[in-house]
Amino acid sequence: MCGIFGYLGRRNAVKTAIDGLKKLEYRGYDSAGIAGVFQGQIIGCKEVGKVEGLEREVQELDFQLESAIAHTRWATHGKPSQINAHPHYDNARSLALVHNGIIENHLALKKELVSQGARFVSETDTEVISHLIASLYKGDLLFAVRKAIGMLKGAFAFALIHKDFPDQIVVVGHESPLVIGVGEQEMFVSSDPVAFSEFTHNVVFELLQPINRCLNGNDEVAVVHRDTFEVFDAAGQRSEKKIEKLTAKFGTASKGAYEHYTLKEIFEQPQTIRSAYVDRLSEEFGTAHFEEVQTEMPELLDVERILILGCGTSWHAGYLGAYLFEDMARIPTQLEISSEYRYKNPLVPHRTLVIAISQSGETADTIAAVRELKAKGTNVHGSTLSRIADACINMRAGPEIGVCSTKAFTSQVVILSLLCLAMARMRNMHKEDGKRFITAIEDLSAQVEQILETAPHIEKIANKYAHHENFFFVGRRYMYPVSLEGALKLKEISYINANGYPAGELKHGAIALINENCPTVALCSNKGTYEKILSNIMEIKARNGPVIAIAESGQKGLEGIVDDIIWIPEVIDELAGIPATVATQLLAYYIARKRGTDIDKPRNLAKSVTVE
Ligand code: G6P
Repeated sequence: MCGIFGYLGRRNAVKTAIDGLKKLEYRGYDSAGIAGVFQGQIIGCKEVGKVEGLEREVQELDFQLESAIAHTRWATHGKPSQINAHPHYDNARSLALVHNGIIENHLALKKELVSQGARFVSETDTEVISHLIASLYKGDLLFAVRKAIGMLKGAFAFALIHKDFPDQIVVVGHESPLVIGVGEQEMFVSSDPVAFSEFTHNVVFELLQPINRCLNGNDEVAVVHRDTFEVFDAAGQRSEKKIEKLTAKFGTASKGAYEHYTLKEIFEQPQTIRSAYVDRLSEEFGTAHFEEVQTEMPELLDVERILILGCGTSWHAGYLGAYLFEDMARIPTQLEISSEYRYKNPLVPHRTLVIAISQSGETADTIAAVRELKAKGTNVHGSTLSRIADACINMRAGPEIGVCSTKAFTSQVVILSLLCLAMARMRNMHKEDGKRFITAIEDLSAQVEQILETAPHIEKIANKYAHHENFFFVGRRYMYPVSLEGALKLKEISYINANGYPAGELKHGAIALINENCPTVALCSNKGTYEKILSNIMEIKARNGPVIAIAESGQKGLEGIVDDIIWIPEVIDELAGIPATVATQLLAYYIARKRGTDIDKPRNLAKSVTVE
């Protein structure tokens, strides 16, 4: 898991690499490092923490390199420390290497290398690759790398510089992304083209889809020179690679007047919700369509079951989607966490539509789960997992920089609602009902706007409760997934222990934890179960638990009972998850702000987790 960057060319290699790394920090920010060749020697610099720490250090040292490889880390093997930071070297410091992925057989390889005399300094799996290549190197670097990758198990992408070849970066992408950028007398290597897109749009990857920006799936090795590159297959034969043009737009992200990206992204939701449905609704026929999947639409009619996969926030969006598909389209729907599903040997009946949800399209667990389904011969309709999916629906939410996902969630739920509408209309939904649903979707932006206007009120409530260390979020039906998402936001950015719970389940055990120091956020918007959640609130109050209700204007019976209320507009149950989630996002944001945490880059997390 991590971001890799490499540079060979006419610019200042250190500055270019540091600037590139900053754009890869979404992949991890536990430590950062840079290395390369200077006057015939491999030299490097590493720092614990974010890239800006490394930047300060290289500036103070006036660190110079002729060519550079660099890395920003999300720790898997070994804690975040200077010694575990990449690049990793062999004992003779003949090479430096940066890696993204996990070497699953690293312990066996390490044992063997140690018996041959290698001295390991770090706790990482990566260091095995450096020693292995060094042990196999007898003057032919390409041969040593090819031999080494045949011995490695796992998913990995790496870039290395050897002191005997100061004008080369050798790169490998094996089930982990790595892309080459071809500039004018300069070459880039990166986990993601976003890191060099300001310099060149000429790229080399197998497909232009966001998910498999891997160079290869066949253990190819690329040798990148200052003005060209060569790719060799597993047998050492040259293979031709097309240089393609990047079509994606990479805007430069800015916080504008907002204190944090997270807050800016919460406030962007009226627009991003609109972008998710605009051009995709057919008011006349009361249905929805996606240009991305139009050709497959007849297949959707044959779908008999749906399987939804995702991780984290995307899984929560999928939860709401699963309720919708069963309620509205009457299609049996199964929801699975990607990392669990992959190892289940699942039963996948014929005519199952698989919807893989991912903000980044790079989450290793979701990719692996979809690959497993493909291996079973399933017809996969995915979202952003573009290469392996048969169709991809774009969220159109723009880049999400804050590590905790906010606007991506609401866009995902809108898109699932549209897909559900289309499938329901193909089945038993009446046109007039479809039209009413469309109106409810079109009202969402303005409703979210109204909630954002209440931010000062939510901030006051947040300040009142920010000192508590334990929270519950409870809801029923459509509010249960919202309780999971609200609790996750609070955990991620304020480091408070928060549990999302079905409100009716609390009494079966978790209620033992309720006391005056454990507030509960009660999500009341699901009108079909409103009376029931009121009873659950009474049960909490009877045990002295403070309650913050998030309720729809007009819902009676809360005042005088709960401690605080965040009022949100009235929305149909099927879509109520969107406004209610926005209220929980603001609550989590202001609590985290009061506690003074690093909201945009919370500790231990990464925006995109590219290891299983
Ligand atoms: C990481 C992020 C979460 C995100 C999850 C799934 O854990 O920190 O915010 O929800 O990955 O990411 P995806 O890109 O697949 O939606």
